[in-house]
Amino acid sequence: MTKQRVLSGMRPTGKLHLGHLVGALQNWVDLQAKYDSYHCIVDWHALTTNYADTSDIVANAFDNAADWIGCGLDPEQSTFFVQSLVPEHAELYLLFQMVTPIPWLERVPTYKEQMAQLSERDLSSIGFLGYPLLQAADIVVYDAHWVPVGEDQVPHVELAREVVRRFNNFYPSSALVEPQALLTPTPRLPGLDNRKMSKSYNNTIDLSDDTKTVQNKVRQMYTDPKRVRADIPGTVEGNPVFMYHDAFNPNVAEVDDLKDRYRAGKVGDVEVKTKLAVAINSMLDPIRERRAQALARPGYLREVLMAGSKKARVVAQGTMDRVRAAVKLKY
Ligand code: TRP
Repeated sequence: MTKQRVLSGMRPTGKLHLGHLVGALQNWVDLQAKYDSYHCIVDWHALTTNYADTSDIVANAFDNAADWIGCGLDPEQSTFFVQSLVPEHAELYLLFQMVTPIPWLERVPTYKEQMAQLSERDLSSIGFLGYPLLQAADIVVYDAHWVPVGEDQVPHVELAREVVRRFNNFYPSSALVEPQALLTPTPRLPGLDNRKMSKSYNNTIDLSDDTKTVQNKVRQMYTDPKRVRADIPGTVEGNPVFMYHDAFNPNVAEVDDLKDRYRAGKVGDVEVKTKLAVAINSMLDPIRERRAQALARPGYLREVLMAGSKKARVVAQGTMDRVRAAVKLKY
């Protein structure tokens, strides 16, 4: 029995944090035995917003790959590769542009959201508008059935499906696969300040943070603001400190006890947060260890990405042979 393929991507724009772990990486790791897994460092996607300063992209790519390994993604089992090393993504993207009405891209929710959020950047480019179409090409060029992503990416997978249907309609023998989102089971975590977790808000715990940094960050976490003293009953629901306990503290009895005492005004924030920092640090320890091992081997990550990209390219070339024939551009 051949395994179905999953394909996902991550933009190499900075360090990975707990949001990436919960929102993507844990899911990728859980899926890797059951599916033929492809994970792409989407460096062209990083350019859509960061074209003015591209100097960190390659370093971020290697650092992100080290984190993937740290989290338990195994390059022997999953294919790690780099988007720009497989130019067939660009070729399929170009062909998709021929059949995609511009309004389909203008109405993708992330388009206007990101424009508003990054208002200091000029995002009036074709490249930025085309972001989800390039993503569609990333997925479809591998005939991937499944795309393991969080809720926020569902509109992008939907767009990919619509484009595939339209493309197949014009060029039936291309027989492109309509991909489906494979949603991450865990709910989204807030940032340390209870806003959306984001590098640009400086409210993340990074996978590469050391023990001390984690302790300091947790100590400063936003919690129930009405609890100015430890004997005031607190609210657990929607409290980021407890959401993190639920996500990272495997000692359910300890978490339940803390919640009970918190609701009753019988525990101080220091104890709740100290225990949280311990839980996060013990969860991160093996990740740090594997990450450090990967980074300590000279040339190792580069070789992983090169070999993976070579393998991915063979698959992408197979799809593009079929597509070129379907579009009747076979010479
Ligand atoms: N847009 C995705 C994100 O921001 C990244 C991405 C690019 C992606 N290409 C992809 C995800 C293909 C899944 C499949 O998270």
